[in-house]
Amino acid sequence: MTSIQLPDVGTTMALVASLEANLPDFGRIVHQLGHPAPALRRLGLIHWENGRFETAARTFAAALSLTPDDPDLWRDLANVHSALDRDEQALLAIRRSLEIDSCNPHSWQTLASLADRLDDIETSEDAYRRTIVLNPESAAAHLGLGLLLFRKKKYEEALSSVKISVELDPVNGLAHYALGHLFFIASDFTGSVRSFDEAARLTLPLDLLTRQKRARALTFQAMIEGRVQEALREYEQIAGDDREDLEIITRDAFSVLSACGHLEAAAELGRIRLAEDPSDPVRRYLLDAVLGKTMVAAPHEYIEQYFDCFAPQFDGKLLDTLQYNAPQQMANLLARHRTNFAHMLDLGCGTGLAAKELMPFGSALIGVDISSGMLAEAAKRKEYVDLVKSEAVAYLQGATKHFDLIFAADSLIYFGDLEPLLSAAAGALVRGGILALSVEVGEGPGFNLQPSGRFAHSLEYIKKVSADFTILETQESTIRLEAARPVPGLYIIMERR
Ligand SMILES: C[S@@+](CC[C@H](N)C(=O)[O-])C[C@H]1O[C@@H](n2cnc3c(N)ncnc32)[C@H](O)[C@@H]1O
Repeated sequence: MTSIQLPDVGTTMALVASLEANLPDFGRIVHQLGHPAPALRRLGLIHWENGRFETAARTFAAALSLTPDDPDLWRDLANVHSALDRDEQALLAIRRSLEIDSCNPHSWQTLASLADRLDDIETSEDAYRRTIVLNPESAAAHLGLGLLLFRKKKYEEALSSVKISVELDPVNGLAHYALGHLFFIASDFTGSVRSFDEAARLTLPLDLLTRQKRARALTFQAMIEGRVQEALREYEQIAGDDREDLEIITRDAFSVLSACGHLEAAAELGRIRLAEDPSDPVRRYLLDAVLGKTMVAAPHEYIEQYFDCFAPQFDGKLLDTLQYNAPQQMANLLARHRTNFAHMLDLGCGTGLAAKELMPFGSALIGVDISSGMLAEAAKRKEYVDLVKSEAVAYLQGATKHFDLIFAADSLIYFGDLEPLLSAAAGALVRGGILALSVEVGEGPGFNLQPSGRFAHSLEYIKKVSADFTILETQESTIRLEAARPVPGLYIIMERR
């Protein structure tokens, strides 16, 4: 459909005559307004308000046949078509309205909501933003934009949009509900509970997931305030029938609190968790990380156990929740220097997210990883000529000097001291071979173990320990999100001298 058919003027005038004959009020309004078109519009609005969308659509179309350049009438027609789920007609009508008058915030808002419903995120975001420029007081546009950014996982921006919407319209329960979830993501647990309570007061009772989040928020906040033991004791009472397994609450509280820098509370939780299972290498190492212990690498038993457990959820969590795309970004950076390799090694290949990116560069790709769980996932892709279970440095030291590409995406973060690995990589690469790697960037000149259990490195340090290589290019980037905040990282392409 490329245009909307309007009735001819003769048909409309016959309708007007019949309305005047049968509805005396209509005749009076035509007389008052001096033209049948605005009277038809008024009648159309009455039909619309009373849910008679079909009749409203016919009435607006009739009015438009008399005044086809009225942008408000086109918007009204768009709104009723939208209410009738005739999206194509609604879009044509609202676009016509905006062609005639591109400065009407209501029309942009209609386009924004319609495109939003049709999942046309780009059009919708643009239209919400235009609505806001034209009418900064539109609570609905701020909320619509906030919810859209929430879906796009742009949490910080979403939070500010929804906050503005709540300031402009404090009695919208949906806005408070969204704010509760966004505050939770931002680790503002007090704000989260306050917003959920306001949403519950203004609208319907909260759903199960939200009630569970509220109980978590109350518990995490008490922990941040130094009442860790008490919060754990009180959790079941707070959550009531909605309670989750206390071990999961303790585990999640530990990772949330360490990720957002509440290290004392995290350490106390870490000790509680370790006391429950003193032989668990994951609990031990993560407590050490939160306590700021100095180490040169993550223990192998930690990596194996952690990734074996994590493997089935890895892709979903990394790609979706954490917005991880280092393999793709590194491959793009690599392609600026070289795109043809005879023997490629994916070091710390994990589930094989890099394989798809490396396939265009050559066909001989080997994957190495210490975790058999991760290797099992990688094997499902059927893209590696070989998958080897081995510790990375040990594998490189045993490899004959033949690789022309070593690709290490997000695996060097488990090494502090990179010297052994870089020297083994130099030994496994042919002269002119490429090492592509990613690191997280931290503070300070060398490397340091972060509370997350991952190491951060500075570029100066990497330059210092890569004497066998020439650095071809570096690129700063966000590696992933952590507690919804971007983790700064660095991609480096270096060539074996
Ligand atoms: C965060 S994952 C990244 C996986 C993959 N490179 C990607 O980009 O999706 C880190 C991987 O490095 C592996 N790894 C960490 N330290 C290792 C080591 N010393 N030797 C071998 N593999 C290691 C882990 O088992 C895990 O699969």
